[in-house]
Amino acid sequence: MDMNLEVLILAAGKGKRMRSARPKVLHALGGRSLLCHVYTAARRLEPDSVVVVYGHGGDAVKQQLPDIDAHWVLQAQQRGTGHAVQLGLTALASLEPSVVLVLYGDVPLINPDTLQPLIEQGATGALALLSVRLENPTGYGRIVRDHEGIVQRIVEEADASASERAIDEVSTGIIAVPGSVLSELIEKLDCDNAQGEYYLTDIVAHAVQRGVPVAATLAENQDEVLGVNSRAQLAHMERIYQRRVAQALMDGGATLADPARLDVRGELRTGVDVFIDVGCVFEGTVTLGDRTQVGPYCVIRDSEMAADAQILAHTVIDGATLGERVSVGPFARLRPGSRLAPSSKVGNFVEMKNAELGERSKVNHLSYVGDAQLGRDVNIGAGTITCNYDGAYKHRTQIGDGVFVGSNTALVAPVTLGDGATVGAGSTINKDVPAGDLAVARAQQKAVRDWQRPSKKKT
Ligand code: UD1
Ligand code: CA
Repeated sequence: MDMNLEVLILAAGKGKRMRSARPKVLHALGGRSLLCHVYTAARRLEPDSVVVVYGHGGDAVKQQLPDIDAHWVLQAQQRGTGHAVQLGLTALASLEPSVVLVLYGDVPLINPDTLQPLIEQGATGALALLSVRLENPTGYGRIVRDHEGIVQRIVEEADASASERAIDEVSTGIIAVPGSVLSELIEKLDCDNAQGEYYLTDIVAHAVQRGVPVAATLAENQDEVLGVNSRAQLAHMERIYQRRVAQALMDGGATLADPARLDVRGELRTGVDVFIDVGCVFEGTVTLGDRTQVGPYCVIRDSEMAADAQILAHTVIDGATLGERVSVGPFARLRPGSRLAPSSKVGNFVEMKNAELGERSKVNHLSYVGDAQLGRDVNIGAGTITCNYDGAYKHRTQIGDGVFVGSNTALVAPVTLGDGATVGAGSTINKDVPAGDLAVARAQQKAVRDWQRPSKKKT
């Protein structure tokens, strides 16, 4: 197409029906804001520019979305979608020759493939509208056609008569139209209506009056044009989105125990033959290597796993890197900076943070390992704690290859255990242990013969 494509995204509204202190377009769907979804769809069309009209929430909206590379135009008072477009047009470099595509910041699942034909219609000089038939059209603007089926106007719900409300073809709000035509039509708007706002949708009637061809295309897929106006609609859209994500994962070769019980709030990349049990939540960017198994009710954020990892039930993993054949959980917590070498194992009720576990090493039960480096073939007994914090500073624990730490040991950092060292159970270790030594640091056991336990006196 030799015309410029300019995209205007309307995102200034408060979203009264959300009953929220946050601007509506910042509410999250699949872990990303509604506005982010619309912006991403817009970018896929490779437009010459993107303009976002913002208002409610002020500059906070801009600041919370640093990844959006757009011209931001402030609509200080939200006087309607028509007014928002009028302001947005002032940010465009040139109107001629261009097609302007208007997207709504609260219609997040729009597919760029649906928009392409609309843009092409707009490029012919028409006002191209995207409409949809809804079983329940409540809340949407209705498309009014004459007896020959030609679009006459759009009537908003608040202004519609009973018979108009019965129309099930509604406006998605999305339009594509030559910039020059849009700027002429937008000047004709007034706010003489039930909501006292400048309705963008009124440009249809003005286009008809001026002989501008109006082409309404029905969207085939209802889900992608649904708007989010309330919390219930947001929840409904979230399920639609998650269903799509689950479908894509299965298409890519992952087995999901139940596609309806998976939540991906970011990006999940899976190798072949990955298995994910029910109730798992993935956040940020997560990569699961081939044949990785994730047990039920795990929460995994910004982490990477090599092939054949086993994550057992109720495990929480954040900012960790796992090598091949690693096993974690059940009930384990890996915090940022946890690095597990191949074939290492972290068992139940173990917390790790900023710590490296060498190949084949094991921390199987009830331990805290923080700010530590552990070599290969290390065995950490149940209840071992790295005491990494002295109240003011954090210190490191270094553990060599083949070290054996007995149960219920406190390793008071900074401290180093040399290769092959052994620590007796119940020790508090605050001095380095040389390689190959046994260190035992606990009170010696005493024996008192025929010990009489206290007993209550008879009265
Ligand atoms: C709008 C349409 C309706 C359509 C529906 C589709 C109008 C008048 N109505 O209704 O025909 O069926 O979308 O989802 O256009 N906004 C601004 N500035 C404003 C007002 C709104 O930027 O002054 C933004 C909002 O942030 C939102 C979008 O425009 O992203 C739509 O506004 P909203 O109030 O949700 O319109 P609807 O009542 O849903
Ligand atoms: Ca809306």
